[in-house]
Amino acid sequence: MAPTISLQNFILSTTFLLLFFTTPSFSQQSFRPKALVAKVSKDTSTLQYLTYLSQRTPLVPISLVFDVGGQFLWVDCESNYVSSTYRPARCRSAQCSLAKASGCGDCFSSPRPGCNNNTCGVSPDNTVTHTATGGKLAEDVVSIQSTDGSNPGRNVTVSRFLFSCAPSFLLQGLANGVSGMAGLGRTRISLPSQFASAFSFRRKFAICLSSSKNGVVFFGDGPYVFLPGKQFSSFTYTPLILNPVSTASASSQGEPSSEYFIGVKSIRIGENVTVWVNSTLLSINQETGFGGTKISTVNPYTVLEYSIFKALTETFTREAAARNITSVGAVAPFEACFSRENILSTRLGASVPTIELVLQNENTVWRIFGANSMIQVSDDVLCLAFVNGGENPRTSIVIGGYQLEDNLLQFDLATSRLGFSSTLLGRQTTCANFNFTSNA
Ligand SMILES: *[C@@H]1O[C@H](CO)[C@@H](O)[C@H](O)[C@H]1NC(C)=O
Ligand SMILES: *[C@@H]1O[C@H](CO)[C@@H](O)[C@H](O)[C@H]1NC(C)=O
Ligand SMILES: *[C@@H]1O[C@H](CO)[C@@H](O)[C@H](O)[C@H]1NC(C)=O
Ligand SMILES: *[C@@H]1O[C@H](CO)[C@@H](O)[C@H](O)[C@H]1NC(C)=O
Ligand SMILES: *[C@@H]1O[C@H](CO)[C@@H](O)[C@H](O)[C@H]1NC(C)=O
Ligand SMILES: *[C@@H]1O[C@H](CO)[C@@H](O)[C@H](O)[C@H]1NC(C)=O
Repeated sequence: MAPTISLQNFILSTTFLLLFFTTPSFSQQSFRPKALVAKVSKDTSTLQYLTYLSQRTPLVPISLVFDVGGQFLWVDCESNYVSSTYRPARCRSAQCSLAKASGCGDCFSSPRPGCNNNTCGVSPDNTVTHTATGGKLAEDVVSIQSTDGSNPGRNVTVSRFLFSCAPSFLLQGLANGVSGMAGLGRTRISLPSQFASAFSFRRKFAICLSSSKNGVVFFGDGPYVFLPGKQFSSFTYTPLILNPVSTASASSQGEPSSEYFIGVKSIRIGENVTVWVNSTLLSINQETGFGGTKISTVNPYTVLEYSIFKALTETFTREAAARNITSVGAVAPFEACFSRENILSTRLGASVPTIELVLQNENTVWRIFGANSMIQVSDDVLCLAFVNGGENPRTSIVIGGYQLEDNLLQFDLATSRLGFSSTLLGRQTTCANFNFTSNA
C-alpha cells in the first residue's frame, strides 16, 4: 500500500501546485476592491481610444490602445522595458494553457524581456492594421485604481499579470506614445478575466467612451456613478453571441473569436420604417464565421456591408427628405451628407430620424439618436457617421466608437450578455462625467 499512499501524496501536492499556479495573478494587499476604474480617452489624430495602467517594477505608467474585443494585453518589450518582476511563462506551465499558447521555444540571443528560452508563445495582434506576429507570454506587476463606483480609490496591484511581449514594429499605425494594446475580449487572459480572478469579482466590465474628455472603463460590478450623482445599475440586455471562428489576424484552427457579437435582427429608421437587409448577412455563418454584428472600439465609425450600407443611407435620406432635410455632396469617408439648414439641434444631438437596431425581439431596440448618428464636417454640413464596408466583409455590421460614445455598455462574461443604457445625454450626463478626483 505504501506506493499508493505516496502516489496519492504526489497527486495531492501536484494538485496543490496546480491550484496555486492556475490562479493567474493575485493581489499582494489584504484590501480587496469591489471594482476597478481607468480612464479611456480619444486620440484626436488617429480617433483611437486609449487607456492607462501602470506596469513593471518600479511602476511605469503606460498608455495602450483600448480594444474591447482584443485577446489580451500586449506590450512592446523591445524598447525601454525594464522591470525586476518580469517573468517569462515557461513551456507547459498553467499560464501557457490558460493563454492557450501554441508555440514553445527558445530565443537565440541574450536574455531580455521578450527573449527567453523555454517560453510559450502567443500572437499579439494589432487590430488597427490587422497585423499579427509572434510574441512571448510573460507576467509582470500591473497597477490600477480601485473604485467604489463614484470616485477612484486606492491603487491595487496584480503581481503576476499575464501579457504578451511584442516587437516594436507592431506599434505601427497606433497613436503616438502608446506601448501596446489592451484587449478586453472573451478569453481567460483578457484584462477583465484576469482582474476578476485576481480580486474574486464577477467577470463583468463596463465601458463609457467619450468624444473629447476622459471616458471610463470599470472592471467589476456597478454601481456606475456619473456627475451629478446619476447612478446606473439597470440596463436593457441582449445576449452576447459567440462567433465560433476566430476574427483575429492570426489564429489556430478551431479557435473562437474573442470579439463581442450581438444579434441585430433588423434595422429601422424611426419606429415604422424597416430598412431592407439580406438576413443571411445578419447571422454568423457557423463554418466560416462570416456575417453578424460586433462591437468594436478600434473602428472609429460603424462599418456596414455594402448592401446594408446602401439600403440604410437611401432609407435614411428619404426619411430625412420627408423632414425637408436636403442632401448635399459626400464628404469622405462619409457618403450621406446633409445641409445643416432645417436640422434642429436637441439634447440628443441633431434632430434627424432615429436609427434603430432591433435585437432579439421588437421591443429590444438599440436607438441611435443624432448625437451618435450625425457628425458635423463643416459649418454647414452634417454627415451620417457610417462607412461603407464593401462587399463580402468578414463581419456585416461593426458598431464603431462614434456610435458607442456617451452610451454605457456592460459586458457580463459569466452570463454572456450585454447591458446597454442608450444615450446618457437623455439622462443629463455624459461619459466624461465620471469624477476622477480620488477620494483615497
Ligand atoms: C537559449 O539556449 C541557447 C542554447 O543553450 C543559448 O545559446 C541561448 O543564449 C539561450 N537564450 C536565452 C535567451 O537564454
Ligand atoms: C495611482 O494610480 C494613478 C493612475 O494610474 C496614478 O496617477 C497615481 O500616481 C497612483 N498613485 C499612487 C499613490 O501610486
Ligand atoms: C408609427 O406608426 C404609429 C401607428 O401608425 C403612429 O402612431 C406613430 O406616430 C408612428 N411613428 C412615427 C415616428 O412616425
Ligand atoms: C444574401 O447574402 C448571401 C450572403 O452574402 C448571398 O449568398 C445571397 O445571395 C444574398 N441574397 C439575396 C437575396 O441577395
Ligand atoms: C423646406 O425648406 C425650404 C428651404 O429651406 C423652405 O423654403 C421651405 O419652406 C421648407 N418647407 C417645409 C415644408 O418646411
Ligand atoms: C468629486 O469627488 C471629490 C472627492 O470625493 C469631491 O470632493 C468633489 O466634490 C467631487 N466633485 C463634484 C463636482 O461633485
